[in-house]
Amino acid sequence: MDKTTGGDDKVPRRAFLDAMIVAGFALTVLCGGAPALSYLFPRLSGSSVDEEMDVGAEAEVPMGEGKVLPFGVFPTLVLRTKEGFKAFSAVCTHLGCVVKWNKDNQKIECPCHSAIFDTSGKVLDGPAPKPLRSIKIKVEDGRIILGGK
Ligand code: FES
Repeated sequence: MDKTTGGDDKVPRRAFLDAMIVAGFALTVLCGGAPALSYLFPRLSGSSVDEEMDVGAEAEVPMGEGKVLPFGVFPTLVLRTKEGFKAFSAVCTHLGCVVKWNKDNQKIECPCHSAIFDTSGKVLDGPAPKPLRSIKIKVEDGRIILGGK
């Protein structure tokens, strides 16, 4: 070993630091990639709109109100209208912001770029290119059940 230049000790240290950088990058990709893949491909994560899920009590959504409830990995807007309960994906079809119910005008609104949807999920105004995706809903024994075939 050459003590004047640091000799052979620098090579393993350099290799170790390179390995740490690669490991750190890989960990970052895995941590960021898993939720993204789960969102894009929910069936891979075991969560699907084909599976029924109890998301809460009927009383949580009074007449004329709307509430965003988690349905697995899907934020879901549950509305209670004169026609009954309705459920839509709360993910705006423009750029993916979570929409909200506006009780005052009885419309679904996106806070990001002002898309407006009616109570059937149809686009009334704004940049959203498609209606909100409808999700199957039923009420059994006072419980709100989303999803199912
Ligand atoms: S993300 Fe909803 S209007 Fe742009």
